[in-house]
Amino acid sequence: MQDLTLAGPALLGLALIIAMLLIVAVVMLVRAASGRTRARKADGGDTTMLSMALQEAVNKLKAQERQMAARAEASERLAGQIVEGLTSGMVVVDRDGAVQTLNPAARRILGLDADAGTGPMTDGFRQVPALAEVIGEALRTTAPIVRRTVTLDRGPRPAHLGVTVSHLTGADGEMQAVVCLFTDLTAVVELEERLRLKEALARLGELTAGLAHEFRNGLATIHGYGRLLDLDALPEPARTYVEGIRAETTALGEVVTNFLRFARPEQFAMAPVELRAIVTRAIDDLPGAADVTVCEGQFATVNGDDVLLRQAFSNLVRNSLEACAGGATTPAIVVRGAIEGNDVFVTVDDNGPGLIPAAVDRLFQPFATTKAAGTGLGLAIVQKVIVSHNGVVVAGANPAGGARFQVRLPIYSGS
Ligand SMILES: Nc1ncnc2c1ncn2[C@@H]1O[C@H](COP(=O)(O)OP(=O)(O)O)[C@@H](O)[C@H]1O
Ligand SMILES: [Mg+2]
Repeated sequence: MQDLTLAGPALLGLALIIAMLLIVAVVMLVRAASGRTRARKADGGDTTMLSMALQEAVNKLKAQERQMAARAEASERLAGQIVEGLTSGMVVVDRDGAVQTLNPAARRILGLDADAGTGPMTDGFRQVPALAEVIGEALRTTAPIVRRTVTLDRGPRPAHLGVTVSHLTGADGEMQAVVCLFTDLTAVVELEERLRLKEALARLGELTAGLAHEFRNGLATIHGYGRLLDLDALPEPARTYVEGIRAETTALGEVVTNFLRFARPEQFAMAPVELRAIVTRAIDDLPGAADVTVCEGQFATVNGDDVLLRQAFSNLVRNSLEACAGGATTPAIVVRGAIEGNDVFVTVDDNGPGLIPAAVDRLFQPFATTKAAGTGLGLAIVQKVIVSHNGVVVAGANPAGGARFQVRLPIYSGS
């Protein structure tokens, strides 16, 4: 019993120690387990944050991309609208000579169809070789071409363009294309020409009118004395001389009178007048014209002096008649009216021999004539009258043979 009593506390102590050890082990195990869970938890939080940040960055990038695309689209649209809406013509030609861009104003100014003008420049611009030549020059050189005036030969009314060509260079510094910008200067050039003519005519009138008067007075005196000489009382050779003096002074007197009529400053009686009536009257009043002349097309009312305008058209038809009279064919003259914008065009076509090339440059100058008995004042008067009416007259060839004269006058606008 004694042994039992001694062994009891010893066993109890051992059990207690084992229990404590177990508790410690359990506590340690629990701690270790909870530490692992915490670490795992922290690990999971980091990944989530990382993926959220990534998602956010991706979203931002996508928004930026969308913005940039919208901006690029807007600027492309704006550039397109600018090119389309430009009142100047714009042509972009790449370095291989292919037309890349051709805006509506370019088509309008160059008179190209909707589908013409693209592809190789040499094909598209066949109708306007002068422009193709300037662009070709720019493609061959590096210097820009600034404000060059190019004349397009288009029938009786040539077009004048103010052209500028500059180079488009790529990132490598190589020329990629040329940009050609041009404006239609025809109206400006014509206005300058008209002003110059008006001024020249006014100066001519002032300078020569006084001189011509003196001349006419002197001639009248010579002619008068010549008339006083009694031909029958003169010996034979002197008679011929006096006859010569009389004939020459008469002819010279006519030239001076005609010139004075041409050079003197006109007093215009301006009023709205029907151009068809004026043209018809001019034809009817000209002997031999009515039977061989056809008047057709559309005419308009112009603000003008009806006597002077009639004289101008009469001179044109008379020239046609005279030109045809020299030829072998029966005269056939066509006077055609046409309305274009704010202008009325009157074209006089004949079937005569056409203009003499050597005389073309001087046709409208006073005293320029190829006829033995011509005054050379007919067309000078036509030009003076038409220019004074703010119009233009040009000479050219009738595509059917013969000559073509075209008059353009502004239509009466009521104000
Ligand atoms: N219809 C025409 N056909 C051919 N030549 C023309 C015609 N009209 C004018 N010309 C040329 O223009 C020149 C000048 O004409 P104009 O001034 O009327 O003077 P003129 O008739 O007295 O010669 C003419 O001599 C002629 O050579
Ligand atoms: Mg004449």
